[in-house]
Amino acid sequence: MSKKVAVVTGASRGLGRAVSEELHKKGYHLVMIARPSSELGAFAEKIGAEVFWGDMEDLAFLESAAKKISAKHRLGIDLLVNNAGIFPEADGAYEASRMRAAFSVNTLAPLHFALALEGSLAARKGVVVNVSSGMAGLKEMNGGYPAYRVSKTGLNAVTRYLSQEWVGKGVRVNSVCPGWVKTDMGGPSAERSLAEGAASILWACEIPSDGPTGGFFRDGKRLDW
Ligand SMILES: NC(=O)c1ccc[n+]([C@@H]2O[C@H](COP(=O)([O-])OP(=O)(O)OC[C@H]3O[C@@H](n4cnc5c(N)ncnc54)[C@H](OP(=O)(O)O)[C@@H]3O)[C@@H](O)[C@H]2O)c1
Repeated sequence: MSKKVAVVTGASRGLGRAVSEELHKKGYHLVMIARPSSELGAFAEKIGAEVFWGDMEDLAFLESAAKKISAKHRLGIDLLVNNAGIFPEADGAYEASRMRAAFSVNTLAPLHFALALEGSLAARKGVVVNVSSGMAGLKEMNGGYPAYRVSKTGLNAVTRYLSQEWVGKGVRVNSVCPGWVKTDMGGPSAERSLAEGAASILWACEIPSDGPTGGFFRDGKRLDW
C-alpha cells in the first residue's frame, strides 16, 4: 500500500518541524512548505521528503504548489497541516500593517491553500488541521495582541466554513491549540515542551473517518470558540 501523504506548512522550525518529524516517524510521505532554508533542505533530503519553497503570503505560489502536489499525488492527500503563522506584535499594540500581515499569513493563506488542495483532500477523504491558538477564543477574548488574536479567530471561522463546505466530501477540518509552547514564537518561558505542543496537533491529524469536524481542540479536548 502506498504511504499516506501529509502536507505541512511552516515546516522549517518550531511546531511545524516537530510535527513533520513525528509524521515521518509514523510513516507518512511528507510534503513541506517553507521559505528557503538549507538546514530544512538537508533534512528533507535525508528523509526523502518533498519541499516547496515559498512565502505563504504569495497566493500564486500556493496555487502552483497545490497544482504540482495534486499532479504528483494523483490518488490524493491524506492530511494538510496549516501550521505556518506569525505573532507580529511583541508589544501587543495595534498597527494596521500588523493586522494585514497577520490576516495574510494566519487566515487567508490557510484558506486559499486548503481550497487549492480541495480535490486532492476529497479524493482521500483527508483531514485538515488549522493550527490556531487559545488567544483566538471569543469567550475568553482579552485585550492586547489584536492582530494575532483576531487573525486566529478568523482562522477558526475558516475551520467552521470549510468543515461545512466539505461535509458531503468526507474531509474533516478542525482547529487546534497547541498550548503555550517553547518555540521562537512562544519564547523560553512557555509552559509546554515542543513535544507536548506537537502532540496536541498530532491528535487532530489522526482523527478517524467518523471523528469530529468543525471543532476547536487542545490535547483532544474541545475548547470554546
Ligand atoms: N508557540 C506557541 O506558544 C503557540 C501557541 C499557540 C499557537 N501557536 C501556533 O503554532 C504555529 C507554529 O508556531 P511556532 O511556535 O512553531 O512558531 P515559530 O517557531 O515562529 O515558527 C513559525 C513557522 O511559520 C513559518 N512562517 C511564518 N510566516 C511565514 C510565511 N510568510 N511564509 C512561509 N512560512 C512562514 C516560519 O517560517 P520561517 O522559518 O521561514 O520564518 C516557521 O516555520 C503558528 O500558527 C502559531 O500561531 C503557537
